[in-house]
Amino acid sequence: MADRRALVTGAGGFIGHHLVRFLKDKGYWVRGVDIKEPEYEASSADEFYVLDLRVPESCDVAVKDIQDIYHLAADMGGIGYITSSHAGITLNNTKINVHMIDAARKFGAERFLFSSSACIYPQYLQRDADVTPLKEDDAFPADPEEGYGLEKLYMEKLCQYFTEDYGFETRVVRFHNVYGPLGTYDGGREKAPAAICRKVALSQDGGEIEIWGDGLQTRSFMHVDDCVEGIYRIMQSGYHLPLNLGTDELISVDGLVDLVSAIAGKRLIKRHDPSRPQGVRGRNSNNSRLREVLGWEPRIMLAEGLVPTYHWIAKELEAPAKAPLAAPAVAAE
Ligand code: NAD
Ligand code: GDD
Repeated sequence: MADRRALVTGAGGFIGHHLVRFLKDKGYWVRGVDIKEPEYEASSADEFYVLDLRVPESCDVAVKDIQDIYHLAADMGGIGYITSSHAGITLNNTKINVHMIDAARKFGAERFLFSSSACIYPQYLQRDADVTPLKEDDAFPADPEEGYGLEKLYMEKLCQYFTEDYGFETRVVRFHNVYGPLGTYDGGREKAPAAICRKVALSQDGGEIEIWGDGLQTRSFMHVDDCVEGIYRIMQSGYHLPLNLGTDELISVDGLVDLVSAIAGKRLIKRHDPSRPQGVRGRNSNNSRLREVLGWEPRIMLAEGLVPTYHWIAKELEAPAKAPLAAPAVAAE
């Protein structure tokens, strides 16, 4: 695969960083692009450009001489972050996405994979903690998460139009909540698994832990190793319609806290705070189509995947403030 050139946008972020390593292990030549370098360890990309992909000319630089584009860059975070500024997040992601797909086609990329989200699914189907797993055709009639989810849905359609009108090869992947080592665990963008790991790690045995909502809301969570493998398999498939990528292992937020507490060996008292953002009441992935298309689905159980995640976050929190990484970043011309 060394002759095959891949671009990963968002390579300074959580999933993109793992994906770069996965593609390198497969033998690809990889260019990583992000507005920032990876925070926790240096990128294994062959070259890493620091670029702002809201700018059309930056997208041109990013996609030049590339065949496979894995487009993951986005202004994103957990439910607290994506409900904090609908205007800013929507504007940033609209600019990044339309300029990226336009540049990709213009410069002759062969395949373009877009990282969409379960946030595109209608809120009216997610009002019950005992939720019916969401299948791809449920997306319409639309009622997505405001801002972030609406923009993802728009970009899904743009991918479809590029395929229909220009014969441009696209893939659309709807990730369900992804966790794992090297993911953001503080600062405001963290999602529930990393936030809970951080809070448990910082709590004394027998102490209190703050949980957003009443703890009965439900989700399914996917380990990042399954995520990057799924992304790769979907890119290889000839399938251009949207596909879920998640597990169908539904668990309540309180259940998630219990799993992490058990890994940490701590007994904690839960203090629920209903004034904090909660998002949908229940969300789960229906993987029937994923299984049909790939003959594969994510397989890492939450109780298993949380172990390295918790230990990585706990170790990070023990470490003294780190010096900036010496990353192999080069400024793009
Ligand atoms: P992340 O925030 O860790 O990574 C996204 C990266 O995009 C960041 O490193 C960020 O710096 C970069 N970026 C933002 N604005 C940019 C700009 N203007 N120019 C260049 N780079 C820019 O998030 P992640 O969890 O790795 O998510 C990757 C993709 O998957 C995103 O598109 C996200 O919307 C999607 N997704 C993630 C999840 C999840 O649970 N992690 C769920 C659904 C969808
Ligand atoms: N973030 C966070 N932090 N969530 C918490 C916490 C906490 O300390 N305590 C409890 N929760 C609850 C939230 O209230 C929410 O009900 C649930 O855990 C899940 O929160 P998140 O992980 O932040 O987000 P989400 O599942 O609602 O949405 C995420 O997943 C989507 C894909 O499935 C977001 O990251 C979206 O951006 C993403 O597209």
